Amino acid sequence: MPVIKVKGMAYVRLSAPDLDVMQKFLLDFGLEVAERTSDRLYARGCGADHHIHITHKGPAGFLGFAYEAASEDDLHKLSREVSSASPVEDRNEPGGGKRVRLLEPNGFTIEVVHGIEKRPGEGLVLSKMHKAGDPSQKQGAARVVRLGHCVIATPKHTETINWFRNTFGLIKTDDLYMGAPDNIFGSFSRADVGDEPVDHHVFFCFKGERAGMHHCSFEVADVNDIFIGHNHLHQKGYEHIRGVGRHALGSQIFDYWASPYDQMHELWSSNEKFTASSGSGAVGIGPGMSHDTGEKPSERFTKMATPAPA
Ligand SMILES: [Fe+2]
Repeated sequence: MPVIKVKGMAYVRLSAPDLDVMQKFLLDFGLEVAERTSDRLYARGCGADHHIHITHKGPAGFLGFAYEAASEDDLHKLSREVSSASPVEDRNEPGGGKRVRLLEPNGFTIEVVHGIEKRPGEGLVLSKMHKAGDPSQKQGAARVVRLGHCVIATPKHTETINWFRNTFGLIKTDDLYMGAPDNIFGSFSRADVGDEPVDHHVFFCFKGERAGMHHCSFEVADVNDIFIGHNHLHQKGYEHIRGVGRHALGSQIFDYWASPYDQMHELWSSNEKFTASSGSGAVGIGPGMSHDTGEKPSERFTKMATPAPA
């Protein structure tokens, strides 16, 4: 039995030496400023979450990410039963709520949070009904809705995936192997929210030479946003890493961009959902996930691993 079952992602926590530069990137990527202090930047999407992206002022790097728990009791259970867990504490940040901090096997801090305020009445309603003259040919940033998943590269793949699945109740959606089926080098896991539909994965980790964040990934309002956002980020001169393409697993239409501080951010859209009873798979593939559409992934993509700040 896992310690708890998380509901999904809450936010990713990065650091950057110049918050003005990071803010400009995030706005061009499709986020909005939720709150800014002298040393932190909180950014939100157009969904109900108060914020989904936090940047601390400091040397560039990856600080960790947060999952949302179903109850405050679950935070206490983690605090009692996981050896690396902190006491349950007030989250003294915008949106409030409680949290517990845990160290995962690579030393990154994973937070589990509950009770962060939501934005009432917000939410995007999409319709295919249009009138002549609607601004459907708009230019600008993508409409990011929410944080979907974070991915970790790690030399300790087995230990890492076991820890995440056993601690947070994540379900194996697909393991990836090369050659023999027991030569697993990557594991996609989804949240167990019973019959409630969830994404193909809320967490992916794969064997890498260095431990770090491979990317953080944001769902956009509509597949059109991938292309509109791509055009906008291209015009602004950011570093494009991979896409637009389609992942065979989870059918995510993807586009990957680097922040000015070497932190990879993904825009995606998918029409696939899974429940707890959707089962698990194992997929044999060649090097570089070459079964996806689009160009072969570059080394820049496959070797990305943003470490903790120096
Ligand atoms: Fe992704």
